[in-house]
Amino acid sequence: MKLNIAVLAGDGIGPEVIDQALKVTKAVCERFGHELNYEHGITGACAIDEVGDPYPEATHELCMQSDAVLYGAIGDPKYDNNPKATVRPEQGLLGMRKKLGLYANLRPVVSFPSLIHKSPLRTDLVDGADFMCIRELTGGIYFGDRGRKNDGNTAFDTCIYTREEVERIITLGYEYAMKRNKKLTIVDKANVLESSRLWREIGQEIAPQYPEVETEFMLVDNAAMRIIQWPKSFDVMVTENMFGDILTDEASVITGSMGMLPSASIGVHTSVFEPIHGSYPQAAGKDIANPLATVLSAAMMFEYAFDLMEEGKLIREAVDASLVAEFCTEDIAEGEAKKTSEVGDWLVDYIGKQ
Ligand code: IPM
Ligand code: MN
Repeated sequence: MKLNIAVLAGDGIGPEVIDQALKVTKAVCERFGHELNYEHGITGACAIDEVGDPYPEATHELCMQSDAVLYGAIGDPKYDNNPKATVRPEQGLLGMRKKLGLYANLRPVVSFPSLIHKSPLRTDLVDGADFMCIRELTGGIYFGDRGRKNDGNTAFDTCIYTREEVERIITLGYEYAMKRNKKLTIVDKANVLESSRLWREIGQEIAPQYPEVETEFMLVDNAAMRIIQWPKSFDVMVTENMFGDILTDEASVITGSMGMLPSASIGVHTSVFEPIHGSYPQAAGKDIANPLATVLSAAMMFEYAFDLMEEGKLIREAVDASLVAEFCTEDIAEGEAKKTSEVGDWLVDYIGKQ
């Protein structure tokens, strides 16, 4: 098979973790006889520095022409500490999601047996936890361009959802629940927010079409509690944009490290595969960041964008083996920590031997 991939490494540790995911992708293509073509595009703070735009048209064109996008991370503290900045790296990420129509962000939360001791939760709570969080990605308060303001005294953002947006994401939630353990938790704040009441209404309308699926409606504050109290109670969770952002950072650490959680953003045009973590600027250039979330995002790319399941499985096996061998970066290492690039090399070596 021929794989045409756009690679957007971004800022901070983005290029370092992307390097490892690319090495692994190349190794898998060699092992299975696929032809890999990839091209780098700029995005984030480095694109603002270069061309004044965090998601330049040329990068968008590249994404549109590719079969998949492998994405690192964006962000730079010089923008975080400057609320007055009008052009920000995050606009590049949000702009890309919007322009590619990536309305669903799939974030699998899976505990790795060999990492359980790293979880802040008790082993019995986290052992066997395995759920899929589906985050709506192109609506809600993030896209406050439908109405937002800050005049120095008063500020507001608006959270808007349309029936069409909610229907398609909840339906996707049910489709995933059908493929998994047939339980869907729809997370909202329907006791306070009108937009959440629309989510709940639509959830109640769609539920009867999936009689085999157990539907659970849950308020977001309760969901935040349940993720640490009883993560194994979840199978598929679907929620709006900002709740999904917050809950998946929380969920990621119960698996041992935020550096482990991959994601797939799917929708209308080319799908994007990216770790859920940020650009970790303090570690940039130090070769210490955990590349596994990005490597696992590459596994998701093989599976979701190319339907190459064996290839994805081999990457997961390699990641598992590296954890068992305790060949890990400092966030999860017990003994001597390995470098980002060493972990990448180890995975490539493992894949070459299979
Ligand atoms: C994520 C990130 C982004 C988001 C930021 C960088 C805009 O936190 O992908 O989870 O909030 O969606
Ligand atoms: Mn986030």
